[in-house]
Amino acid sequence: MRNYMQIFLGTSFSSLSPKEIQILKDHLFCINSDGMIEMIVAPEHPDYQPLLDAYQGQDNFHVLAEGQYFLPGFIDLHVHAPQWAQSGTALDIPLYDWLNTYTFPLESKFSDLAFAKKVYDDVVGTLLANGTTTALYFATVHKEASLLLAKICAEKGQRGLVGKVVMDDPQGNPENYRDSDTHTALVDTEEFILAVQELAKSTKQGVYPVVTPRFIPSCTNEALQGLGELAAKYDTYVQSHCSESDWAHGYVQERFQKNDAFALHDFGLLSDKSVMAHCNFLDEDDVNLFAETGTAIAHCPISNAYFANSVIPIADFHAKGVEIGLGSDISGGFSPSLFDNIRQAVMSSRMLEDGVNPSLSAQNRGVPGSRITIHESFYLATAGGGESLSLPIGRLLEGYAWDVQIIDTKVPSAKLPVFDENEDLQDIFQKIMYLARPENIREVWVQGEKVHSR
Ligand code: GUN
Ligand code: FE
Repeated sequence: MRNYMQIFLGTSFSSLSPKEIQILKDHLFCINSDGMIEMIVAPEHPDYQPLLDAYQGQDNFHVLAEGQYFLPGFIDLHVHAPQWAQSGTALDIPLYDWLNTYTFPLESKFSDLAFAKKVYDDVVGTLLANGTTTALYFATVHKEASLLLAKICAEKGQRGLVGKVVMDDPQGNPENYRDSDTHTALVDTEEFILAVQELAKSTKQGVYPVVTPRFIPSCTNEALQGLGELAAKYDTYVQSHCSESDWAHGYVQERFQKNDAFALHDFGLLSDKSVMAHCNFLDEDDVNLFAETGTAIAHCPISNAYFANSVIPIADFHAKGVEIGLGSDISGGFSPSLFDNIRQAVMSSRMLEDGVNPSLSAQNRGVPGSRITIHESFYLATAGGGESLSLPIGRLLEGYAWDVQIIDTKVPSAKLPVFDENEDLQDIFQKIMYLARPENIREVWVQGEKVHSR
């Protein structure tokens, strides 16, 4: 019999496809020393009993209690780590004013490494406690503080993908918060990439550098071109904001006479390692370009409700072959929980389908076929995020990383309404999706290592 690092016994929920949940009842999950799921064994399999006999009672054998379930860890495809310090506030004004009034002044404070450490320690810990095992972060323009965020992810065991933000255009950014010049922005980005790639060697779960032009209005053409070249040279991830608000979308149209998607593509910034946040105003050609280049979308449903008054047509984009994951967009989105974003994605999609204005005639009420199910929304937060990053994460299948949250439906202070011990597992899954709170997340594991428990 093979030697396993850990064996877990319990029932799991994981996406088979956007519309389908796979439920594995009382299976054994055998984890190897790399933290990968090497084998999943069903109760009726001939190896089941011998494995139980060999491992039961050992420290590395973990059995879920009644009412506990495995879910894949969440993958947050869009988080502004420094903005955690203002989460839940400052959502009263449009994007452009919000950036200048609240957000740029806050981010400028991250030149102070002591302040950065306080916020970054807290945001990484908070996301882990909310079940987020992988996060794609925007840091700030500061190279050292951005590297500190990557180090904190490495230390706490989160799979962090981190970008030093580039904002080099003197026209588009405040004087006290931007890169000092284009050359420095590119040199800092290259040094940051090399430092994070070095740091990654000492981690089990991996940390990754991300080329991060904040959005087109923040960057000169030279910076965008240089960043495209760096992404190709080092084969890195790329992230930015794409067609988020009417204002940002209109700005790019005026500057380039094209939409964000084609402008970013011209600078070499769209590839299968690119994740673009929001994408509220993609036209048919933009969507096809995303599908052709393998560019993924970070759907940020809470943030979009505030800044864009918009719902992106997930079902339609999926049908066209675009990969989509879920983003909290802290602090444009107020919640660090992807459970909250899963719920909002479903609710927003229903409003898109049904319309919200009763004075409109029936045929003007919304876009038919836009509603997504809770299963599809769960897919976005897990498997869709994994596909977007082209990493073996987000599913509880053989060959995937052991990135899980253990959900306890019987926590006294946050008990879910389960009254029948034999309740259908599909129903239990839906109750978890709609009602689970951080208190219900008993343990979080990343790459076979326990990173949080309560
Ligand atoms: N566009 C440019 N910067 C930002 C940001 O920090 N948050 C959001 N939501 N949109 C942006
Ligand atoms: Fe954002």
